[in-house]
Amino acid sequence: MNNIVFVGFMGSGKTTLSKVLYNELVKENPDIRLIDTDAYIEEKLSRKISDIFAHEGEAYFRDIETETLRELSDSEKSMIVSCGGGIVERKDNLPILKSIGTVVFANTPIEILWDRVGNDPSRPLSKDKDGFFELYGRRLNLYKEVADVIIDTGNDTVEKCVEKIRRSL
Ligand code: S3P
Repeated sequence: MNNIVFVGFMGSGKTTLSKVLYNELVKENPDIRLIDTDAYIEEKLSRKISDIFAHEGEAYFRDIETETLRELSDSEKSMIVSCGGGIVERKDNLPILKSIGTVVFANTPIEILWDRVGNDPSRPLSKDKDGFFELYGRRLNLYKEVADVIIDTGNDTVEKCVEKIRRSL
């Protein structure tokens, strides 16, 4: 099975979709792994993302993110990877994402994203509305550039999105 990598902005449904897809695919591939890069980093450093941002800053977090992607790209096992929304911030990450597997961009209109996760205390970059919208504007083309498949997680149901992803594998 080709690995699947989810990218998309905070609140775009990457975690939910990756879990639903995992529950379907694990029946056919019992060895498949489900990895969330944020959870992976939190476990590796035994720290919360918000704490890492507050004490070491964003650049340090981005270094760990890239290190994590490199580790995952060396893995032999089938996997579904759900990436933190800022994974496209480092240009170097784009070829690594593509080398891991089929990249799926979970696309949702910015107003819906803000309604879903604006001011979420566990997401350090969702505190300020103008900054949130600006980040989205900066990243949108990067998500599109790296994507093999684009799904509409703002309007389509989870089932429909999963079906579209499965057809594209
Ligand atoms: C971030 C998104 C978060 C997390 C961190 C930074 C971002 O992940 O990696 O707070 O820069 O967009 P989610 O997309 O899972 O919220």
